[in-house]
Amino acid sequence: MSEIHANRWYTNFGPLNSRFETEMARFLKETGSAKLETGTFSSATTALELMLRAKRLGKEAKVLIPALTFPATALSVLNASYQPVFADVDRHSWLLTPEIARAAHAVEPLDAVVPVATYGKPLDGEAWLKFQQETGVQVFWDAAAVLGQQAVPEDITSVFSLHATKPFGVGEGGLVATSDLETLERARSLSNFGFIGPGGMVQQTGTNAKFGEYYAAVGLQQIARWGEVVERRRKISEFYWKELKKLGNRIELQAGCGEEYIPATLQIYAKGKGGAIFDALAEAGIQTRRWYLPLLHEHPALHDIPFIDNMQAEEALPVSLELAEGLVGLPFHAFLSEDNIREICDIVVGVIS
Ligand SMILES: Cc1ncc(COP(=O)(O)O)c(C=O)c1O
Repeated sequence: MSEIHANRWYTNFGPLNSRFETEMARFLKETGSAKLETGTFSSATTALELMLRAKRLGKEAKVLIPALTFPATALSVLNASYQPVFADVDRHSWLLTPEIARAAHAVEPLDAVVPVATYGKPLDGEAWLKFQQETGVQVFWDAAAVLGQQAVPEDITSVFSLHATKPFGVGEGGLVATSDLETLERARSLSNFGFIGPGGMVQQTGTNAKFGEYYAAVGLQQIARWGEVVERRRKISEFYWKELKKLGNRIELQAGCGEEYIPATLQIYAKGKGGAIFDALAEAGIQTRRWYLPLLHEHPALHDIPFIDNMQAEEALPVSLELAEGLVGLPFHAFLSEDNIREICDIVVGVIS
């Protein structure tokens, strides 16, 4: 904070913002990504919207997105003036996979696809890269919740959220990681009203979606304490898995959850029992969320978004509709005690047995 005040530079790509971008490029490399450029934005939503816009996909470009995601995925595509198209997710990973996108592209040619690292499950870099190379369809990852656990390959543009609810929480903010420097520069300009070059000339109709120096300062601190954050989350998750395993196959977790990665939010699937678990936890004074329900097509403002091949929801989304009946998020944060976790799991057992 004193550095910001000494600099008398509070926003507009200041020195702390530059340092944060450089440090984040290093952080990504250390967590398995290629050597990438990073760019900050006011949120992951504006970052995705402006990267999509800056890519200039063409009027009415079709962009495939999953129906099981946070609404921001669809809103970014709509705000970029493209046509989102809903796809289902894979039953095992609960994600929009390259196989699903390939099948969709075969019936309805796509311009881009935005797979989502839903609930903080890392996306498959190799498979998405192969998809992009083979089909020529642009891939933009909505990796909002998976910063720190997602390896980003060189040719895939990825967007992370720095929102307070994310493991790498800064407050508000979005981070782009990409090797597509031309698009990133245009997106940066769009985040600054569309000014390009000296003299403050509006060269494209932008907005204000910049990341200020205060957030960059918090971000730099978050990098410094990341090891500690991960350690706390790892301990909580280990205890949780031990308790959840006692429930046997009456509940299902997202593939690899807790074993291959630590999720951002902990969703369980209990066939047909999502609502009942939510109610039982609420009755005990334990607040939770049924992420990401309702499914996107059920939101009034997103109701007109089409499904692949103009199908109806029941035909287009069998897996998402099945998951919707059983998904419920359990409290999952670094300050849970073992007693808290036992209490939560006991309530879940009470509903499913
Ligand atoms: C999948 C997904 N995409 C996008 C966002 C939006 O991120 P932000 O709040 O930084 O705009 C979120 C936030 O929760 C998210 O979960």
